[in-house]
Amino acid sequence: MMHNSEYFLKGRVGIFILAFIVMVPLTHLHAFNAEAEFKTKCAACHTIGGGDRVGPDLSGVVGKRDRAWLLSFIKNPMGMITGGDKVAAELFKKYNNIPMPTLGLTDSQTESLLNYIGTKSTSAASASTTSAAAATVDQSTGDASLGRALFAGTTGLKNGGPQCLSCHQAGGAGGIVGGALGPDLTKVFSRYGVAGLKGVLGSIAFPTMAGPYKGKELTSEEVSGLVAFFKEMNQSDHSAMSIISFVIYGIVGLVIALFFINLLWASRRVETKRPLR
Ligand code: HEC
Ligand code: HEC
Repeated sequence: MMHNSEYFLKGRVGIFILAFIVMVPLTHLHAFNAEAEFKTKCAACHTIGGGDRVGPDLSGVVGKRDRAWLLSFIKNPMGMITGGDKVAAELFKKYNNIPMPTLGLTDSQTESLLNYIGTKSTSAASASTTSAAAATVDQSTGDASLGRALFAGTTGLKNGGPQCLSCHQAGGAGGIVGGALGPDLTKVFSRYGVAGLKGVLGSIAFPTMAGPYKGKELTSEEVSGLVAFFKEMNQSDHSAMSIISFVIYGIVGLVIALFFINLLWASRRVETKRPLR
């Protein structure tokens, strides 16, 4: 009896595994939904007919640029920018030196995204007035001290995402020292602004962060707190402050050192004088 049910179970497990092996590639082949993909991978930085965000409005871009250029740009933006492509370099400069991330898309996925952008552009052209109004993002920020605590990890993220500090640092010397996998965020506000940061943090736009934060999204309160913290840090010039304090501490330290050296010398003279007598 035991054996029978064991075999039965094993057989069922086997069928499940087989079903998975067959189904997973099939669903993957058919699951690429350009609209959904645009929402999760592009919409934090781009609109189609809703105005510029972190990156340019993509309405009409399919007609404006060469198809091959678009394919290679989307597949490897930084490669094009640093590889001497004039258009890419100009775009990079115009959009505050914010690198569009490499999103790991295949050729066919990129093609279907471009088709989607193309069809969306024509419908966006007629509805441009309404969508432009919808694109105005709330410029208010939240509680900077909450943002600082979240960044430093002294307050946990509500949905259990990893600490920013494990990959980023901010504030320069004397600031918050953290991991080095991600870029230093001291001046990140100057490039993205309120709307840009809200976009890229509200739906995590960076490929390295997308995995760790999947299903552990930041709440809107956390996002606006972090944005307030980045804004505050951008305004207070930490690097200049730390240079000034470095100089002051240096001078104070030198005076104290000279005082003690003087004391030592004085006592040494006394001691060496005595046995000589
Ligand atoms: C983190 C923000 C960000 C994300 C996410 C992002 N982009 Fe971009 N994109 C930019 C920026 C910024 C530029 C301007 C060039 C630069 O600075 O790299 C750009 C430029 C472009 C351009 C060239 C526009 C032109 O006028 O020629 C296209 C096309 C484009 N992105 C498509 C996409 C697509 C498709 C996705 C999603 C698969 C995507 N981008 C995701 C930020 C982003
Ligand atoms: C697992 C490591 C990791 C964690 C955790 C992480 N980041 Fe990032 N972040 C990165 C990397 C790497 C990049 C650069 C883009 C990329 O490769 O995806 C980045 C990019 C950024 C950028 C854009 C920087 C720029 O100069 O363009 C911002 C803003 C940002 N992260 C904010 C945050 C915040 C806020 C948190 C915490 C809620 C956080 N990150 C947590 C790894 C991380």
